[in-house]
Amino acid sequence: MMKCDVITLFPEMIRPVLAQSMLKRAQEKGLLDVRVHDLRDFTEDKHRTADDHPYGGGAGMVLKPEPIFRAVDAIRAGGEPVRLILTSPQGRPFTQQLAFEFSQEPRRLVFICGRYEGVDERVREGLDLEEVSIGDYVLTGGELPALVMMDSAVRWVPGVLGDPGSAKEDSFAGTLLDYPHYTRPATFRGLNIPEVLMSGNHEAIRNWRRKQALLNTIKKRPDLLGKLDCTEEDRRILKELNQERK
Ligand code: ADE
Repeated sequence: MMKCDVITLFPEMIRPVLAQSMLKRAQEKGLLDVRVHDLRDFTEDKHRTADDHPYGGGAGMVLKPEPIFRAVDAIRAGGEPVRLILTSPQGRPFTQQLAFEFSQEPRRLVFICGRYEGVDERVREGLDLEEVSIGDYVLTGGELPALVMMDSAVRWVPGVLGDPGSAKEDSFAGTLLDYPHYTRPATFRGLNIPEVLMSGNHEAIRNWRRKQALLNTIKKRPDLLGKLDCTEEDRRILKELNQERK
C-alpha cells in the first residue's frame, strides 16, 4: 500500500487524473491512498492568499511559506510518519530506481507542488525535505511531476498491474529498452507480425524478444547499453547481431 498526500494550489489538476485508469484502480483495490490538499485551505486571510511578490523585486509570484508549513503540520498531526518531497527543476533526477523506492516507502509520501517562479526558500530551510525533478526542462508547476511520480511508483506496488511480471520486464528495469509488441490482426495494411510470435516456441520467443530489446537499445539509447549487466546470453546475441551487420 502506497500512501500519498499532494499539497497544491491546483487540486483540480490532480483529482481527475487520479479518477482514471490504473491510479483509480489502485485506489479501489486499496493499494494506493491519495489525499489532495488545497493550499488555499491553509491560508488565514480573507482572500486566501497563497502566493506573493518576491522580495527584491522581479517578475512572477512566490509561494508563501506559512500555508505550506500549515499543510504539512496538518498532515503530520495525523500521526503517520511522512517523507516530504518538493517538486522542483533543481531537484535530484527522478528515475525508475526512485520510482521503485517510493513504491516500497512505508511513510506517507507528501508531494509539495512548487510553482515555477518559486517557493519561498524557507520551505527548503525549515522542512526536512527532498527536492526531486522529473527532467531538465521547466514546467509551470509541480502538479504534473507529482502525478508522474505517483503513476510511475504505483506500477511497482504488487497487485496494481494485472501481471506481476510487467513492471519488471519493462524498459529500464535492466537498463534495456523494451521489445516490440504486437496484437491482432496478424496482418494489417500489408504489415505482418514476426512469425516467431506465432510459433508457440516459448524459448524462441524469449530469445527473439531479448534480441529485439538489445537492438532497440543499440538503435535508440546506446548510452544505456554501457550500464547493462550483460548475461552470457546477451553476449551471444550481441555477437550474433555483430555478425549480421557485417
Ligand atoms: N517544477 C517545474 N519544473 C519541474 C520539473 N522539471 N520537475 C519537477 N518539478 C518541476
